[in-house]
Amino acid sequence: MCGIVGYTGKREAGRVLIEGLKKLEYRGYDSAGVALQENGQLIVTKAAGSVADLEKALNDQFKEVRVGVGHTRWATHGPPTDLNAHPHSSVSGKIVVVHNGIIENHRSLRRRLTEEAGYRFNSETDSEVLAHLIEYYYQDDLLEAVQRAVADVEGSYALVAACSEEPDLLVCARQDSPLIIGLGDGENFVASDIPALLAHTRKTCIMEDGEFASITPDKVIFYDADSLPVEKEVLQITWNQEAAEKGGYDHFMLKEIMEQPAAVRETLRQRVDVSSGLVELQELDLTPEQILNLDKIYIIACGTAYHAGLVGKLAIEKLAGIPVEVDVASEFRYRTPVFAENQLAVVISQSGETADTLAGLRMARARGLKVLAITNVVGSSVSREADQVLYTWAGPEIAVASTKAYVTQLVALYLVAIYLAQIRGTLEAAKAAELVKGLLGMPDQLKQVLSEESVAAIQAYCDYLVKWDHAFFIGRNLDYPVAMEGALKLKEISYIHAEACAAGELKHGPLALIEKGVPVIALVTQEAILDKTLSNIQVVNARGGAVFAITREDFKDVSRQVDSVFNLPRVNDVLAPILSVVSTQLIAYYTAVGRGSSVDKPRNLAKSVTVE
Ligand code: AGP
Repeated sequence: MCGIVGYTGKREAGRVLIEGLKKLEYRGYDSAGVALQENGQLIVTKAAGSVADLEKALNDQFKEVRVGVGHTRWATHGPPTDLNAHPHSSVSGKIVVVHNGIIENHRSLRRRLTEEAGYRFNSETDSEVLAHLIEYYYQDDLLEAVQRAVADVEGSYALVAACSEEPDLLVCARQDSPLIIGLGDGENFVASDIPALLAHTRKTCIMEDGEFASITPDKVIFYDADSLPVEKEVLQITWNQEAAEKGGYDHFMLKEIMEQPAAVRETLRQRVDVSSGLVELQELDLTPEQILNLDKIYIIACGTAYHAGLVGKLAIEKLAGIPVEVDVASEFRYRTPVFAENQLAVVISQSGETADTLAGLRMARARGLKVLAITNVVGSSVSREADQVLYTWAGPEIAVASTKAYVTQLVALYLVAIYLAQIRGTLEAAKAAELVKGLLGMPDQLKQVLSEESVAAIQAYCDYLVKWDHAFFIGRNLDYPVAMEGALKLKEISYIHAEACAAGELKHGPLALIEKGVPVIALVTQEAILDKTLSNIQVVNARGGAVFAITREDFKDVSRQVDSVFNLPRVNDVLAPILSVVSTQLIAYYTAVGRGSSVDKPRNLAKSVTVE
């Protein structure tokens, strides 16, 4: 999510770090910093804002420095400020650390270091704990101190540490967050992403989970999780700068679709107790009594986020038994909802800056409702103005068409639904545990949906769809909002007119448009109403419509009744949208590519709509 660059060699380190950080800034970061080794001291310079602000703050000082680490931050714990920016220093200033990822047990480590060692913390970040922990273990050997420190850590990390007493050395560690070593001649590099390295070297080694590396200008040594040295394969990078920014994919949208297993894993992190099967939402600042008394929830959002809200409604009503109204924000602000006590508003916004959503939030607050925001951007307007925030940890989303942000919004809403149900006692413990288990299994199931074989099946279907100017998406219950999201995505980037229709509504009008060959994408994941959906499909078949069903592999009957199927792994009805929507994203993507549209920046649209 954040960007890391490290350098040890013969050049002006500050320049190498700033240039490297600039190459990572395309993802939209909010603060940056560097630490430079100068005369036995680690000098840290940080700035909220862009890398250009950091460059100004550095003001070309420290030209003689040859070693340093740098970081651009995408805030998760604590807003984007100078203090929260990396690198973080240990108490004595002897150790500095840059870190990507999330330290799940940072609170208990913070407590331990404060109580046992009297350390004081300067920032609100989880990452700062690493600097102190490494100093706590440091006995003239940075590598050993890092190894001991990460043994105490739960969570994900790509980290680079430097120590003023070992001036040429950088030590790296990786778990669930990428880190790449760049090999040079009398100099070596480390970065979280390849674009930061390309100007200097194309010879790289990719670190694996559990590995460590110690880097000096002349040598890089890798160690496995047992601290034994390992030989690594050297990879020659052939990508150009643009391809590297997209992780080798043709478009940011595809990269972001492929990042969904990791984004879901991050959003679940720290919010479910695996052993008890319980959801723990510390962010939700409602007393059990307030939750028991909740009479109604308003969900307010736009576009894709609105579609997430529709799934949220069905999940909350089903699991927690609370009535939910979902509004498009631009409509909510001009209607007259009947506000009363014991109501909660939930606003959903990837960017946190959507003008209509903000207006809905303000209206709800002005009428005395508590507002929970679900957003992907720490420090955004929505997150600042809401009473409580549940962040999705999808990382920066660049393509205008929202994909990973949507899927993590679904995860956040499921967590809310299960949490409310737990407290209200509306869900048996075994059922709650089954759903939690299902959520935890989502990253692996998503990987199946994104496998080469699955993608090839979608591509084959898109060869058909690409020739049409109209398409229908149909579904019932939880499949219906997914149909709406699938249609929006297809319209947005392929410019094919797509209409979503509740499958049972076809006969009340839209059926008039079905004739031979018209593409109908049917979402068929709801076991409880499988027969109903199948009978709606028969009606389409009878008019010659060409049905492509997105269904579950165990629904064997479906394939006999449609033209072609795309099989999802077996999944609980309630959670199915997480998997099914991903196949609709792939349909939109490959159809848009087939039609030669501008995938990442579709015509007439913007990533963040800050006007009414
Ligand atoms: C999604 O693909 C769209 N680009 C759009 O509908 C978007 O979801 C909407 O504008 C809301 O944005 P937000 O989540 O940043 O508030």
